[in-house]
Amino acid sequence: MGTTNNKTRPFGGGHTPCTRTHQIGALLLVAATFFLFRIFHRPCAHFSSADLSRPSRNGLPSSDGGDLSWPLRGYGPHLDLKIYVYDENEIEGLKALMYGRDGKISDVKCMKGQWGTQVKIHKLLLISRFRTRKKEEADLFFVPTYIKCVRMLGGLDDNEISDTYVKVLSQMPYFRRSGGRDHIFVFPSGIGAYIFKSWEIYINRSIFLTPEGDRTDKKGTSAFNTWKDIIIPGNVDDSMTTDGARVVQPLPLSKRKYLANYLGRAQGKAGRLKLIELAKQFPDKVECPNLQFSGPNKLGRTEYFEHLRNAKFCVAPRGESSWTLRFYESFFVECVPVIMSDQIELPFQNVVDYAQISIKWPSTRIGPELLEYLESIPDKDVEAMISRGRRVRCLWAYASESSPCSAMQGIMWELQRKVRQFHQSAETFWLHNGSYVNRNLVEFPRWKPPMPLP
Ligand SMILES: *[C@@H]1O[C@H](CO)[C@@H](O)[C@H](O)[C@H]1NC(C)=O
Ligand SMILES: *[C@@H]1O[C@H](CO)[C@@H](O)[C@H](O)[C@H]1NC(C)=O
Repeated sequence: MGTTNNKTRPFGGGHTPCTRTHQIGALLLVAATFFLFRIFHRPCAHFSSADLSRPSRNGLPSSDGGDLSWPLRGYGPHLDLKIYVYDENEIEGLKALMYGRDGKISDVKCMKGQWGTQVKIHKLLLISRFRTRKKEEADLFFVPTYIKCVRMLGGLDDNEISDTYVKVLSQMPYFRRSGGRDHIFVFPSGIGAYIFKSWEIYINRSIFLTPEGDRTDKKGTSAFNTWKDIIIPGNVDDSMTTDGARVVQPLPLSKRKYLANYLGRAQGKAGRLKLIELAKQFPDKVECPNLQFSGPNKLGRTEYFEHLRNAKFCVAPRGESSWTLRFYESFFVECVPVIMSDQIELPFQNVVDYAQISIKWPSTRIGPELLEYLESIPDKDVEAMISRGRRVRCLWAYASESSPCSAMQGIMWELQRKVRQFHQSAETFWLHNGSYVNRNLVEFPRWKPPMPLP
């Protein structure tokens, strides 16, 4: 033994008269060929033309109506990834995380509201061209759960959620192989991954898709990690995101009654209360009714959007947590969103320059000064921001990634950056002949669930 020359390994061996090195060389060659084959023979998504991501120094994109493109720098313009989507019948317990303990919660119901992204992303991945049915060739693994909805509708309680997640994870050898690093979970609400109370023990290395960035309310901690997780857009009502069928159309700027509005419930939040105060002081400039969840001060869906479109600027203050759906809705009624949520983190920052399409104002400076500032912005600048927003808003719509621009496209761009050629964890080992083994030297294909976690 002892014939392997480690130094030649990374270069594929070659000249040492050593069979083991040759074997490794051959293996590397096979791997390289396979890899190149994949690069050149996979149908690639190609995105071209105008690009909002890297405008020239003065910051304004030159043309209108172009596609958004995945930047050339870094990984090139092509998407090349394979995602395996776990089947609900394949893993015991997965169904409970999707339809509740009795299997009675309907996915159609769960498609609506803020938790809808958990269902939509799953359904869209099922028809994605990046989906693979072979685990062996997958770069990433998607674990479908509709847990936010299931919990809201009483389908599982907190302890059941935790126990079921653990049961599910212990049945996934591939999760064990990477320590969860190549597994994707969606957490669609402010509570984030905390809906699974032991997330920190079991899935803290996995990729979370969530609308929520750093959480600062109530808990001093956040389940979101900007380097590992992906911010997704909020779930704007389908009736507003579908081109052509939009229930409420934007108004011309000159026809808008208000300078700014905020349409939401105050919920005792400081920023929101200040806005309501401001509207009382300047009723002809700011529309800001104190809305309620129900009763006469509740707006219907269409009515809500009819109000929203009636101002040049739509203020999006933080609520329970730092993200706000109103930010995304603004683009579909074509008002300029004014973010007042200091901790907000926005989706797809690899391709979108938010200073081109929105304003972020300190939440500590809500007062007449804000109105003076907004009034000072010439209409042509407002129009320009709106027009640039019109080009990117397709990234907030949960349509299939086969449409040239959609939230799924943006998510794929982000996921591409997570793809690794190699998968490992503290419990993964490998031998001279390419075999993966566990600590007991059992080969990967024979790792039998339930497996110890994490
Ligand atoms: C994840 O959890 C494990 C087990 O509790 C812990 O050892 C590890 O440090 C955690 N990793 C991260 C990145 O938080
Ligand atoms: C790799 O080597 C180990 C240890 O010698 C052996 O048990 C295993 O069967 C080998 N695997 C393959 C795929 O040849």
